[in-house]
Amino acid sequence: MHAPLSPQAPAEALRATLAELVDGLPPRQAAQATARLIANYRGATPTDAPVLRDRSDVVAYAAYRMPATFEADRAALGALADAVPQWTPSGHTDIGGGTGAAVWAAADIWPDPADGAAPRPVTVLDWAEPALALGRELAARAPSAALRDARWRRARIDAALDVPPTGLVTVSYVLGELTPADRAAVVDAAAGAAEVVAVVEPGTPDGYRRIIEARDRLVAAGFHIAAPCPHSAACPIEEGTDWCHFAARVSRSSLHRQVKGASLAWEDEKFSYVAATRFRPGPATARVVRRPQTRKGQVLLDLCRDTEELSRETVTKRQGPLYRAARDTAWGDPWPPREDPAP
Ligand SMILES: C[S@@+](CC[C@H](N)C(=O)[O-])C[C@H]1O[C@@H](n2cnc3c(N)ncnc32)[C@H](O)[C@@H]1O
Repeated sequence: MHAPLSPQAPAEALRATLAELVDGLPPRQAAQATARLIANYRGATPTDAPVLRDRSDVVAYAAYRMPATFEADRAALGALADAVPQWTPSGHTDIGGGTGAAVWAAADIWPDPADGAAPRPVTVLDWAEPALALGRELAARAPSAALRDARWRRARIDAALDVPPTGLVTVSYVLGELTPADRAAVVDAAAGAAEVVAVVEPGTPDGYRRIIEARDRLVAAGFHIAAPCPHSAACPIEEGTDWCHFAARVSRSSLHRQVKGASLAWEDEKFSYVAATRFRPGPATARVVRRPQTRKGQVLLDLCRDTEELSRETVTKRQGPLYRAARDTAWGDPWPPREDPAP
């Protein structure tokens, strides 16, 4: 076993660890395992047995998908942290956690306590033992003690799933693999266990629909929406006309470039998410729900507002500091920008 990669931030440490993992694979074997994995994920899901069956499946998953799910989780948890700046998770359970993308992302957003206090307890639940085994191996190299000490447990998501009380529960890129009954069961188990629940899905119309389903269940269970929505009322998007999603930039590994025959060094992972809290959060007044358009002397922002409507705001050069802030504002950011907390 290697020594922990200290003192890097989890994001860099994960990139370095995954790059080493890919370098250790014969390129043809890696490309074949990845192609099989993509075919499996395109096939009919849900399945009644794990898709990630053996080491080459999970290495392919970790190399090919984990950087993207990690960046999506990091963006979603970052937006959540902005809405609840005083809160840190007392513990974290990641359901359907696979190789652990969401626990790495949480370690990046909420680092270990600086005062030497015990790190938060972290548990990853999944039914695929090879995914848990690789997740454990990767986490052993993490700069974060919370990750190095994480427990990796085999568990099946169904109506009998029992999640002990904890601060944060994440469910990342899992709902799409479940039956409708199991999707409801996992959200109910999360709501029953956690102070804060974050659910992330691919940024497709189907992924968004599953997020709305989870959001409705969380609100019905008494939760408040912390992000991305500025309110907990119904989503103002008219069904079937559009879908709420965001994009996270992901560096492509050599494996990505090989499998996709692509030369760009990065790609954008599209994702949808919801983060909800048992206590009252401080959500954004409005959120930028499309890539801002920059024109000469103008920035056009498409916003979802706390007034429960979608509308466009044009910020012009004459607005001085607000215009400069708009030029720095990205898809997914709160608007107007939040003040940085005083040092
Ligand atoms: C697409 S992967 C996502 C993994 C990880 N959460 C991430 O974001 O990278 C879906 C995960 O859900 C797990 N999973 C799917 N159905 C499950 C079930 N019924 N019970 C437990 N785990 C399940 C799979 O084994 C796999 O690890």
